[in-house]
Amino acid sequence: MSTYDFTHSADRSGDRSEKWSKANLLAMCGNADALPFWVADMDISVFEGIKAGLYREADIGVIGYRDNSGLASLFTDFMKEKHDTVLDEDHVTFAQGMLHAISLAMNIFTKPGDRILLPYPSYHPFIEMIEANGRVIVPLPLKRTSDGFVFDPADFKKADEDCQAILFCSPHNPTGIVFSQKELGCVLETAKERGQLVLCDEIHSDMAYPGYKHIPMVKANEAIGARCISFCAASKSFNIAGEHCAFALFSDKAMKEEYTSVQKRLYLSSPGYSAAVMAEAAYKDGLDYNKALCEALAAKSAKVGSFIKERCPELRYCAPHASFIAFIDCSAIRAAVEADKAANPGLYSHNDYLMASFFGARGGICMNDGSMFGSAYSDYVRFNFGCGDELLEKGLEGLEKALKTIR
Ligand SMILES: Cc1ncc(COP(=O)(O)O)c(C=O)c1O
Repeated sequence: MSTYDFTHSADRSGDRSEKWSKANLLAMCGNADALPFWVADMDISVFEGIKAGLYREADIGVIGYRDNSGLASLFTDFMKEKHDTVLDEDHVTFAQGMLHAISLAMNIFTKPGDRILLPYPSYHPFIEMIEANGRVIVPLPLKRTSDGFVFDPADFKKADEDCQAILFCSPHNPTGIVFSQKELGCVLETAKERGQLVLCDEIHSDMAYPGYKHIPMVKANEAIGARCISFCAASKSFNIAGEHCAFALFSDKAMKEEYTSVQKRLYLSSPGYSAAVMAEAAYKDGLDYNKALCEALAAKSAKVGSFIKERCPELRYCAPHASFIAFIDCSAIRAAVEADKAANPGLYSHNDYLMASFFGARGGICMNDGSMFGSAYSDYVRFNFGCGDELLEKGLEGLEKALKTIR
């Protein structure tokens, strides 16, 4: 039996959780009292080693400037143990959180007007980031199958050849795909042929379920040698999502030097005190916790999948291979939801998120509306099942409760 408790949700009523904030819940699903199954942090408690690290440092009574020189090697040791991937520390650098790091790389290695290939559905800040930085999104829809989404190498090869970069996410948010060597090889080989830079977000990489193996881009790229920067962090896999301490991994040293010189110029080269304490504890002692977490998340996902199959047959669960978020296909209820909205406009009046509003109003649960991940995905919701058993039950009941109102 696992020595870690993944069955109880922490009481977050006292923290300043973005996910549990009533104003935020209202904005996403129109119901401030809805239970939250959206923002991608988990409600289960963090690894005890992380808490112990924070208490230890707080007990010293001074939060001064910190020597973080051992952090990168703790990360590279973890990569070896967890992913059987040997990293050259000369090609690795600390980065201030995932989005920050990707955006900085995008600013340094692409220019305004450049075209960036982006698989869809896409984690919404990628869409915002490309647009906000004046680059052009070239969408690449992932293929929908009966039980989820897949990467189709043929589609990828057909995609726009004139892009300067690809923004990839592996494992993929929101579909939960864990990519094979063949699929990653296709991305890297094609990029190399076309002289494109691969930027790869691997924030969900440590949470592949038993039976699935995440292959870091660095490893997939060993025999290919594409220009690639991948980004890793402990933040999702150790449930310290607000931590903002990441690592950038460069396929060549010259790119790393260029990146670090900009970091230096902007005074962004070191993590905040508590971020470093948490990352150190995670990478140093967290492997066993992480293994147990992967098993627990696989079980939670299976539970969601069977509940939907048995009790919510109108919906289709796009079963993920990793992490704690999943797309649910609600296309079969669109007409009924639209009719419900027409009959009860007051329930849906706050924004354009049709499906999120439906489940918020009718089921008392808040999920991300699929349209956030691309306008073609407004028939989906993204469900975050990273919580304790009791809360998860309530979430699943909320799905069914909402459906009963339109059956
Ligand atoms: C794919 C992906 N990248 C990045 C982030 C955010 O990372 P950070 O908070 O370190 O910027 C998330 C959070 O949900 C994510 O899912």
